[in-house]
Parts: sequence; C-alpha cells; structure tokens
Amino acid sequence: MITTKLWISNRWVEADRTVELRNPHTKELLAHIGYASPEQAAKAIEAAADAFASFRTLQAYERAQILSRAADILLSRREEAAELIVKEAAKPIQAARAELDRTIVTYRFAADAAKQLSSETVQMDAAPRGENRHAYMRRQPIGVVSAITPFNFPFNLVAHKVGPAIAGGNTIVLKPAEKTPLSALFLAEVFKEAGLPAGVLQIIPGDGRELSDVLTRHNQVSYVTFTGSPRVGKVIRANAGLRKVTLELGSNSPLLIDEGFSEKELQWIAEQSAVGAFTYNGQVCISIQRIYVHSSLYESFVRRLTEKANQLRIGDPMDEETDITALIDTNACNRLEQWVSEAKQAGANIRCGGTFMGQIMQPTVLTDVPSSANIHCEEVFGPVVTITSFDSWEEAIRLANDSKYGLNAGAFTKNIEHAFAAVEQLESGAVLINDIPTFRLDHMPYGGVKQSGVGREGIRYAMEEMTELKLVSFRTKLFE
Ligand code: SIN
Repeated sequence: MITTKLWISNRWVEADRTVELRNPHTKELLAHIGYASPEQAAKAIEAAADAFASFRTLQAYERAQILSRAADILLSRREEAAELIVKEAAKPIQAARAELDRTIVTYRFAADAAKQLSSETVQMDAAPRGENRHAYMRRQPIGVVSAITPFNFPFNLVAHKVGPAIAGGNTIVLKPAEKTPLSALFLAEVFKEAGLPAGVLQIIPGDGRELSDVLTRHNQVSYVTFTGSPRVGKVIRANAGLRKVTLELGSNSPLLIDEGFSEKELQWIAEQSAVGAFTYNGQVCISIQRIYVHSSLYESFVRRLTEKANQLRIGDPMDEETDITALIDTNACNRLEQWVSEAKQAGANIRCGGTFMGQIMQPTVLTDVPSSANIHCEEVFGPVVTITSFDSWEEAIRLANDSKYGLNAGAFTKNIEHAFAAVEQLESGAVLINDIPTFRLDHMPYGGVKQSGVGREGIRYAMEEMTELKLVSFRTKLFE
C-alpha cells in the first residue's frame, strides 16, 4: 500500500498526516494520501515564490519545449494515467482515455500559447499630447498561482490551470481534489522528466477547508484559479481580496429544441442529449440538466431520450462497454436521492431511473418538474435531466434564462431568426447552436456569467488572465 508525499521544489516531502483514498466503485483502499498542513502549504507557496524569480526569465521557446515534452510523456503513459482516473474517480475507461487525449492536446495548446503572447501597439498620436511617442503593451507573468481543481477531470482540468500558468511564466501551487490526488501527483514525475525547473510546480493534496485560507490569502500568492462549487467560490473570492481570481463554478445547463425536426433528426438529437446528460454520470459542469422541447415534439423526444437512457450500460468502469458507474461518493447519492424524492412529491414524473444500486444512480429522466425544485434549479452533478415543453421560442429562452447559472447553453433550431435570438438573449458564457452545451474543445474560451463564475479558461484566455499587462511608451524627442 503506498503512502503519498507532497511535491515541493521537485522533491517528495513527507506530509504531516495521511488520509485514506478508496476506489468509489470497489471501495478498495488505493493509498494513504499525504495531506499538507497549512504550514506545509505556506512552505510550498514560498518555494514557488523563490522559483518565480528565475523561471520568469526563461525564454518562451523554453517554456514551450517543457510543455510539449510533458505532452509527449503523457502520450507515452496514456493507458497508465487513464487507469488511474478509473481507479480514483470511477470514470469509465473509454471516457478516461478520452480525457487523456484532451489533456495532451491541452498541454500542446499551452506550448503554442507560450510562443504567442501577443502585444498590441497603442496609437499615442490619437490624442493631442501623444506626438513623438510610441507605445505598446507587453504581458508579464503574474507570479505565484494557487490552483484548486475538481475531481471530475483530474488530468484535463489540472492541465487547464498548470498549462497556461507555465506558458505565461508563472509558478504554481496545485491543490487537487480530495477524491483524485493520484492523478495530480502523477504529474510530478512527468514535469520533472520534461525539464520543469524545481519550484515551478508544487502539488499538495489536502483538505480544502484547512488550506483555503493559506492558498488564497498568503501574501506571496498573486492569483487564484478555482473550479468547483459556487459556495466555495464565494469564500475564495472574499478571501482573495485584491488578487485576480478565475472561478469556474458549474451550472444547470439548458438545451432548447425547436419545432420542425424530422423523426430521424429528433432521434439523433435525443442520442446527443443522452451523451450530454449522462456522460460520466452527469458529473460535468456543462452536463445537460434542463431540456426545453417544443410541444409538437415533446412526447416523442421524451420517449426517445428515455429509451436511450435505458440502453446505457451500468457497471465496472474498467469494462470497455460501461457507460454509467458509481458516483464519486455517498454524499452525492444522498443529495440526488433527496432532490429526486422532493421533486416527485412536488408532482414530477419519473420517466426512467430515479433508483440506486449501491453508489450507482440509474440514468434518470424527469418531466413535470416545478421550476423551483432543487433538481431543476440547483446544479445536480448527477445523471438526471428534466424535460419541459414550450410553445414559443421566446418562452423557451425565458425558461432557459430562469436560472442563477449561465455557463454553456445549447439550442437546436432550423430557424435562423431563432438561432440569432438564442445567441443574443441566452444568458450564458457560450451558446452552441445545433449542438449540446456539453461540447467543449480545449482552446475554446470557457467560463460563465451569473453564479457560474468569473473570468475565462481555454488556454490563451487563461494565460491572459494569468499575466499582467504593462504599457511601455518610448518618447522619441527630448525637446518640443
Ligand atoms: C467541467 O466540468 O468544468 C469541464 C467540462 C469539460 O472540460 O468538458
């Protein structure tokens, strides 16, 4: 049985205490995870601050080389890394491999971005007193980045923070999710082998509540990037004070389906919707949670999605055929069980699922759900989707916007005016026409409005957030 340590200054450091990590599917003990104390977290931050002085002077091509090499190493260890995700996150192996493929692309995008830190010129003579001056903007690294990551994409959502931080010339203290520390610790050797200098990346598993203060308030932390719940996001924002923050806080993503689709098209949309709602048990921030369907297609769509949900294969995440697996923990099961039962009492119809087999929840489709029900208006983060009918596109947009969240929204329509109305009026960080809101490429800007967060990820956008703009002005004449 392994006992893990903390990764500080390219060395393994014994933690003050350990906590058991278990496989959510088998309950097998995977490791004793070394948890950083607040004092050890402060030491990690100080190591990152020390390393920043020299790392910021590394040339862009050198940072790019390190990131490309890390991507190559991950490619060569893809299967090993994917199996780690399966073990600690119970993600089906096919989805785990897909995550690794995305992670490799994410680091490659970061390598490219390191070489494309663009700057713009400022036309000084646009103002009367600006003559004889030439100015441009340059981007400089921000300093020490505190990165706090979630369990659901333990490689790729870490890459979305570590990649742009390195690309921008920053140093990092990474606190991975309590449920998935092994995937993060795997990166220690990957980046060491890739040539990352000591102190640039610290990896310190630990208890989020215990470490939150030091990670967000330490005077050597310049920037905090967090993916997780709005509740924690609010605490981080309050703690961070004047530091820059990026918060990616989830959603209850809507999908709108207009009238006018043929039976064949509707079948395809239903299949896409099942992917968007049930992939990795809906434990994805842009999972489809609320579907609004035109009344002319409503019953047919409900039947098709329900059929598809019933065909999903439940089982062992290591099995190549498995779609649905154990939820991350029993808290998730309890929350979902309670919210489904509340919705049922409030008049919801369970069209399929709603039941549990141990820690596995069957894919669940609900109709007639009151909009005030938690299962509809809170972030579910489970394999549950609600379907509501509408009579006009205006109504569909109004219903979709009736949410405190706004990350991605999807809309299927053949009507160009409806498509533009959705683009214009949907309150979200992204609108995907004729696509599910769950679609993401790793260079897309990604982030939300309302309670879905602050700032944008997606490599270039994250790198811009992790760098400071500096204006440089040259005066060309001393007199006149
Ligand atoms: C997330 O759950 O925040 C990320 C979703 C994705 O990258 O596909």
